[in-house]
Amino acid sequence: MAVLPIRTVPDPILRKKTKRVGVIDRSIKKLIADMRETLHADAGRVGLAAPQIGVSLRVTVICLPEEEDIILINGEIARRKGQRLVSEGCLSIPGYIGELYRAESVTVKGLDINGKEIRIKAEGLLSQALEHEIDHLNGVLYVDRLENADALRKIEPEDIEI
Ligand code: CO
Repeated sequence: MAVLPIRTVPDPILRKKTKRVGVIDRSIKKLIADMRETLHADAGRVGLAAPQIGVSLRVTVICLPEEEDIILINGEIARRKGQRLVSEGCLSIPGYIGELYRAESVTVKGLDINGKEIRIKAEGLLSQALEHEIDHLNGVLYVDRLENADALRKIEPEDIEI
């Protein structure tokens, strides 16, 4: 396992649509182990998508405070409900935070680390993190969803980065 450097804008890998994982082999398990270690290297980190460490595959890991890590392979949003205004940052856009609309709740489907199909129904921070990380898999960054340029500001110490 290793803590890997996080790719930041304007690295082109952040704008590429990722490929689906075929077989969850040793290399995928190692990728997930590295992603988890990289995520836990800093307590403020909530989620990570594989392109952020230079791998263009549909793999994300989310870790909410006091919760088990959520590993999601080939994740996609099955359903979005409602809309709410949130503040959001990204490890790949250090130093900034923006305001944008996210769903009130989402249903996400994908595979767990054993290749078993999973569905996750989420609201609150988990819903926001799932939308943010799945956006990464499609080459989308939160700054693409800002209402306007004024909705981006410099980060304050209490803000969290997804
Ligand atoms: Co991000």
